[in-house]
Amino acid sequence: MIAYYNGEFMPKKAVQISPDDRGFLLGDGLYEVMRSYNGYLFKAHEHIARMEKSLKELRIPDPFNGDLKAIGEKLIHRNRLQDTDATLYIQVTRGAAPRQHAFPGEDVSPTAYAAASAFQPPVSKREKGVKVVLEPDIRWGRCDIKSIALLPNVLACQRAKDQQAEEAVLVRDGFITEGSHTNFGAIFSNQFYTYPDTNSILAGITRQVVLELCNNLGIGVNESPIPVDRLKEADELLVTGSTLEIFPVVQVDDWKVGTGMPGPITRKLQKEYTKYRKVY
Ligand code: PDD
Repeated sequence: MIAYYNGEFMPKKAVQISPDDRGFLLGDGLYEVMRSYNGYLFKAHEHIARMEKSLKELRIPDPFNGDLKAIGEKLIHRNRLQDTDATLYIQVTRGAAPRQHAFPGEDVSPTAYAAASAFQPPVSKREKGVKVVLEPDIRWGRCDIKSIALLPNVLACQRAKDQQAEEAVLVRDGFITEGSHTNFGAIFSNQFYTYPDTNSILAGITRQVVLELCNNLGIGVNESPIPVDRLKEADELLVTGSTLEIFPVVQVDDWKVGTGMPGPITRKLQKEYTKYRKVY
Protein backbone atom coordinates (compact mmCIF):
# COMPACT_ATOMS: atom_id res chain seq x y z
CA MET A 1 0.00 0.00 0.00
CA ILE A 2 1.23 3.47 -0.90
CA ALA A 3 0.70 6.13 1.79
CA TYR A 4 1.38 9.85 2.01
CA TYR A 5 3.75 10.99 4.73
CA ASN A 6 5.14 14.50 5.18
CA GLY A 7 5.11 15.51 1.52
CA GLU A 8 6.05 12.16 -0.01
CA PHE A 9 4.30 9.09 -1.35
CA MET A 10 5.89 5.88 -0.08
CA PRO A 11 5.04 2.29 0.88
CA LYS A 12 3.02 2.36 4.11
CA LYS A 13 5.62 0.02 5.61
CA ALA A 14 8.30 2.68 5.06
CA VAL A 15 6.48 5.34 7.10
CA GLN A 16 8.48 5.98 10.26
CA ILE A 17 6.74 8.08 12.87
CA SER A 18 8.89 9.32 15.73
CA PRO A 19 8.15 8.09 19.26
CA ASP A 20 8.39 11.80 20.17
CA ASP A 21 5.43 12.59 17.93
CA ARG A 22 2.91 14.63 19.90
CA GLY A 23 0.11 12.56 18.41
CA PHE A 24 1.62 9.45 20.01
CA LEU A 25 2.60 11.10 23.30
CA LEU A 26 -0.26 13.53 23.89
CA GLY A 27 -3.06 12.87 21.40
CA ASP A 28 -2.19 16.33 20.05
CA GLY A 29 -3.66 16.13 16.58
CA LEU A 30 -6.72 15.65 14.44
CA TYR A 31 -8.05 13.44 11.68
CA GLU A 32 -10.57 13.13 8.88
CA VAL A 33 -12.27 10.20 7.18
CA MET A 34 -13.76 10.47 3.70
CA ARG A 35 -15.49 8.00 1.45
CA SER A 36 -14.47 7.40 -2.13
CA TYR A 37 -17.03 5.99 -4.56
CA ASN A 38 -15.38 4.68 -7.73
CA GLY A 39 -12.53 7.13 -7.37
CA TYR A 40 -14.71 10.10 -6.50
CA LEU A 41 -14.06 11.64 -3.06
CA PHE A 42 -17.53 12.43 -1.73
CA LYS A 43 -17.86 15.89 -0.15
CA ALA A 44 -14.08 16.36 -0.21
CA HIS A 45 -14.45 20.14 -0.03
CA GLU A 46 -16.56 19.93 3.15
CA HIS A 47 -14.24 17.43 4.86
CA ILE A 48 -11.21 19.57 4.01
CA ALA A 49 -12.94 22.74 5.21
CA ARG A 50 -13.74 21.03 8.53
CA MET A 51 -10.12 19.92 8.88
CA GLU A 52 -8.77 23.39 8.03
CA LYS A 53 -11.09 24.99 10.59
CA SER A 54 -9.90 22.59 13.32
CA LEU A 55 -6.24 23.11 12.38
CA LYS A 56 -6.76 26.86 12.89
CA GLU A 57 -8.49 26.29 16.22
CA LEU A 58 -5.63 24.08 17.40
CA ARG A 59 -3.01 26.48 16.00
CA ILE A 60 -1.39 23.73 13.91
CA PRO A 61 -0.07 25.08 10.58
CA ASP A 62 -1.87 23.49 7.62
CA PRO A 63 0.67 21.06 6.13
CA PHE A 64 -1.28 20.52 2.90
CA ASN A 65 -1.45 24.08 1.45
CA GLY A 66 -4.58 23.32 -0.53
CA ASP A 67 -3.23 20.04 -1.95
CA LEU A 68 -5.22 17.61 0.17
CA LYS A 69 -7.83 16.72 -2.46
CA ALA A 70 -5.11 16.05 -5.05
CA ILE A 71 -3.17 13.96 -2.50
CA GLY A 72 -6.31 11.93 -1.76
CA GLU A 73 -7.00 11.36 -5.46
CA LYS A 74 -3.41 10.31 -6.03
CA LEU A 75 -3.61 7.81 -3.17
CA ILE A 76 -6.79 6.34 -4.66
CA HIS A 77 -5.06 5.92 -8.03
CA ARG A 78 -1.69 4.74 -6.73
CA ASN A 79 -3.50 2.02 -4.76
CA ARG A 80 -5.75 1.08 -7.71
CA LEU A 81 -8.93 1.97 -5.83
CA GLN A 82 -10.47 4.11 -8.57
CA ASP A 83 -13.06 1.48 -9.56
CA THR A 84 -14.16 0.42 -6.11
CA ASP A 85 -15.35 1.54 -2.67
CA ALA A 86 -12.63 3.04 -0.52
CA THR A 87 -11.95 5.27 2.46
CA LEU A 88 -9.39 8.02 2.81
CA TYR A 89 -7.90 8.56 6.27
CA ILE A 90 -5.96 11.75 7.02
CA GLN A 91 -4.17 12.64 10.24
CA VAL A 92 -2.19 15.70 11.26
CA THR A 93 -0.34 16.10 14.54
CA ARG A 94 1.61 19.02 15.99
CA GLY A 95 4.84 17.17 15.10
CA ALA A 96 7.71 15.49 16.94
CA ALA A 97 9.45 17.24 19.83
CA PRO A 98 10.69 16.34 23.34
CA ARG A 99 7.64 15.81 25.52
CA GLN A 100 6.17 18.87 27.15
CA HIS A 101 2.57 20.04 27.34
CA ALA A 102 3.01 23.51 25.82
CA PHE A 103 3.55 23.84 22.07
CA PRO A 104 7.07 23.19 20.74
CA GLY A 105 9.02 25.92 18.90
CA GLU A 106 8.00 27.13 15.46
CA ASP A 107 10.83 25.11 13.89
CA VAL A 108 8.83 21.92 14.61
CA SER A 109 6.62 21.13 11.63
CA PRO A 110 3.41 19.12 11.81
CA THR A 111 3.28 15.43 10.96
CA ALA A 112 0.95 14.75 8.03
CA TYR A 113 -0.21 11.27 7.08
CA ALA A 114 -2.87 9.98 4.67
CA ALA A 115 -3.82 6.55 3.39
CA ALA A 116 -6.56 5.10 1.19
CA SER A 117 -7.96 1.63 1.82
CA ALA A 118 -10.49 -0.63 0.12
CA PHE A 119 -13.83 -0.61 1.91
CA GLN A 120 -16.57 -3.19 2.12
CA PRO A 121 -19.89 -1.31 2.49
CA PRO A 122 -21.95 -2.62 5.43
CA VAL A 123 -24.91 -3.51 3.21
CA SER A 124 -26.65 -5.92 5.56
CA LYS A 125 -26.59 -3.49 8.53
CA ARG A 126 -28.04 -0.73 6.34
CA GLU A 127 -30.74 -3.12 5.30
CA LYS A 128 -31.67 -4.75 8.63
CA GLY A 129 -30.84 -1.92 11.02
CA VAL A 130 -28.69 -2.07 14.13
CA LYS A 131 -28.83 -2.15 17.92
CA VAL A 132 -27.36 0.73 19.93
CA VAL A 133 -26.77 1.16 23.66
CA LEU A 134 -26.98 4.35 25.70
CA GLU A 135 -23.78 5.47 27.40
CA PRO A 136 -22.87 8.60 29.36
CA ASP A 137 -21.12 11.25 27.24
CA ILE A 138 -17.91 11.83 29.21
CA ARG A 139 -16.04 13.67 26.42
CA TRP A 140 -14.41 17.12 26.55
CA GLY A 141 -16.07 20.44 25.71
CA ARG A 142 -14.83 20.68 22.08
CA CYS A 143 -16.43 17.69 20.39
CA ASP A 144 -16.72 19.85 17.24
CA ILE A 145 -12.97 19.30 16.73
CA LYS A 146 -12.15 15.91 15.19
CA SER A 147 -9.40 15.22 17.71
CA ILE A 148 -7.43 11.96 17.57
CA ALA A 149 -7.78 11.78 21.39
CA LEU A 150 -10.74 9.38 21.28
CA LEU A 151 -10.53 7.49 24.57
CA PRO A 152 -14.12 8.20 25.72
CA ASN A 153 -15.40 7.25 22.24
CA VAL A 154 -13.30 4.07 22.21
CA LEU A 155 -14.54 2.99 25.66
CA ALA A 156 -18.19 3.72 24.80
CA CYS A 157 -17.95 1.88 21.47
CA GLN A 158 -16.35 -1.13 23.15
CA ARG A 159 -19.15 -1.20 25.76
CA ALA A 160 -21.57 -1.30 22.81
CA LYS A 161 -19.63 -4.14 21.22
CA ASP A 162 -19.62 -6.04 24.53
CA GLN A 163 -23.44 -5.96 24.35
CA GLN A 164 -23.58 -7.06 20.70
CA ALA A 165 -24.55 -3.52 19.66
CA GLU A 166 -23.24 -1.54 16.72
CA GLU A 167 -22.90 1.85 18.35
CA ALA A 168 -22.95 3.66 21.69
CA VAL A 169 -25.31 6.63 21.71
CA LEU A 170 -24.12 9.25 24.15
CA VAL A 171 -26.20 11.03 26.77
CA ARG A 172 -25.21 14.31 28.39
CA ASP A 173 -27.39 16.10 30.97
CA GLY A 174 -30.43 14.06 29.95
CA PHE A 175 -30.10 14.69 26.19
CA ILE A 176 -28.75 12.57 23.34
CA THR A 177 -25.72 14.25 21.79
CA GLU A 178 -24.43 11.80 19.15
CA GLY A 179 -22.87 8.36 18.71
CA SER A 180 -19.28 7.38 19.55
CA HIS A 181 -18.46 7.73 15.84
CA THR A 182 -21.78 8.77 14.29
CA ASN A 183 -24.43 11.47 14.48
CA PHE A 184 -27.83 10.54 15.84
CA GLY A 185 -31.27 11.39 14.49
CA ALA A 186 -34.88 10.66 15.46
CA ILE A 187 -38.23 10.93 13.74
CA PHE A 188 -41.12 12.19 15.85
CA SER A 189 -44.42 12.74 13.99
CA ASN A 190 -42.72 12.99 10.57
CA GLN A 191 -40.16 15.54 11.80
CA PHE A 192 -36.42 14.88 11.85
CA TYR A 193 -34.67 15.78 15.13
CA THR A 194 -30.93 15.96 15.67
CA TYR A 195 -28.62 17.70 18.16
CA PRO A 196 -27.73 21.26 17.07
CA ASP A 197 -24.35 22.10 15.53
CA THR A 198 -22.52 23.19 18.71
CA ASN A 199 -19.30 22.31 20.59
CA SER A 200 -21.08 19.22 21.98
CA ILE A 201 -21.05 17.24 18.72
CA LEU A 202 -19.00 16.76 15.59
CA ALA A 203 -20.97 18.41 12.80
CA GLY A 204 -21.01 15.38 10.52
CA ILE A 205 -20.87 15.86 6.77
CA THR A 206 -23.39 13.02 6.43
CA ARG A 207 -25.66 14.72 9.00
CA GLN A 208 -25.55 17.85 6.84
CA VAL A 209 -26.50 15.86 3.74
CA VAL A 210 -29.39 14.23 5.63
CA LEU A 211 -30.66 17.68 6.70
CA GLU A 212 -30.51 18.78 3.05
CA LEU A 213 -32.38 15.63 1.95
CA CYS A 214 -35.08 16.27 4.59
CA ASN A 215 -35.53 19.78 3.20
CA ASN A 216 -35.75 18.43 -0.37
CA LEU A 217 -38.30 15.81 0.70
CA GLY A 218 -40.42 18.26 2.70
CA ILE A 219 -39.59 16.52 6.00
CA GLY A 220 -39.53 19.08 8.81
CA VAL A 221 -36.15 19.52 10.49
CA ASN A 222 -35.65 20.31 14.14
CA GLU A 223 -32.04 20.83 15.27
CA SER A 224 -32.72 20.59 18.98
CA PRO A 225 -31.52 18.20 21.69
CA ILE A 226 -33.57 15.01 22.08
CA PRO A 227 -34.40 14.24 25.73
CA VAL A 228 -33.42 10.67 26.53
CA ASP A 229 -36.77 10.29 28.39
CA ARG A 230 -38.63 10.83 25.12
CA LEU A 231 -36.63 8.35 23.05
CA LYS A 232 -39.24 5.59 23.38
CA GLU A 233 -41.83 7.88 21.78
CA ALA A 234 -39.77 8.18 18.58
CA ASP A 235 -41.19 6.57 15.43
CA GLU A 236 -37.74 5.96 13.97
CA LEU A 237 -34.12 6.35 15.02
CA LEU A 238 -30.99 6.41 12.90
CA VAL A 239 -27.25 7.06 12.99
CA THR A 240 -25.17 8.61 10.21
CA GLY A 241 -21.51 8.74 9.22
CA SER A 242 -19.31 8.90 6.13
CA THR A 243 -18.52 5.19 6.00
CA LEU A 244 -21.79 3.64 7.18
CA GLU A 245 -23.97 6.37 5.53
CA ILE A 246 -27.35 5.82 7.24
CA PHE A 247 -28.04 2.95 9.64
CA PRO A 248 -31.60 2.47 10.87
CA VAL A 249 -31.59 1.92 14.65
CA VAL A 250 -34.04 -0.87 15.47
CA GLN A 251 -33.10 -1.57 19.09
CA VAL A 252 -31.90 0.59 22.00
CA ASP A 253 -30.53 -1.38 24.97
CA ASP A 254 -33.24 -4.02 25.52
CA TRP A 255 -36.20 -2.29 23.82
CA LYS A 256 -37.32 -2.23 20.21
CA VAL A 257 -37.74 1.01 18.24
CA GLY A 258 -41.24 1.28 16.75
CA THR A 259 -42.04 -2.01 15.03
CA GLY A 260 -38.45 -3.21 15.43
CA MET A 261 -37.98 -2.77 11.66
CA PRO A 262 -36.39 0.14 9.75
CA GLY A 263 -39.03 2.85 9.31
CA PRO A 264 -40.32 4.45 6.08
CA ILE A 265 -38.61 7.83 6.50
CA THR A 266 -35.24 6.21 7.18
CA ARG A 267 -35.73 4.06 4.09
CA LYS A 268 -36.57 7.14 2.01
CA LEU A 269 -33.49 8.97 3.32
CA GLN A 270 -31.27 5.98 2.51
CA LYS A 271 -32.64 5.84 -1.04
CA GLU A 272 -32.20 9.58 -1.55
CA TYR A 273 -28.70 9.46 -0.06
CA THR A 274 -27.65 6.87 -2.65
CA LYS A 275 -29.04 9.06 -5.45
CA TYR A 276 -27.48 12.21 -3.98
CA ARG A 277 -23.96 10.81 -3.69
CA LYS A 278 -24.02 9.79 -7.34
CA VAL A 279 -24.70 13.40 -8.31
CA TYR A 280 -22.60 15.43 -5.83
N1 PDD B 1 -16.48 9.30 12.50
N2 PDD B 1 -19.64 12.11 15.26
C1 PDD B 1 -18.45 11.58 15.58
C2 PDD B 1 -18.01 11.62 17.00
C3 PDD B 1 -17.64 11.00 14.59
O1 PDD B 1 -16.45 10.49 14.91
C4 PDD B 1 -18.11 10.95 13.25
C5 PDD B 1 -17.30 10.38 12.14
C6 PDD B 1 -19.37 11.51 12.96
C7 PDD B 1 -19.93 11.54 11.56
O2 PDD B 1 -19.25 12.47 10.78
P1 PDD B 1 -19.20 12.37 9.20
O3 PDD B 1 -20.61 12.25 8.73
O4 PDD B 1 -18.56 13.62 8.77
O5 PDD B 1 -18.41 11.13 8.83
C8 PDD B 1 -20.08 12.10 14.00
C9 PDD B 1 -15.49 8.83 11.58
C10 PDD B 1 -16.06 8.28 10.31
C11 PDD B 1 -14.54 7.90 12.31
O6 PDD B 1 -14.18 8.25 13.43
O7 PDD B 1 -14.12 6.89 11.76
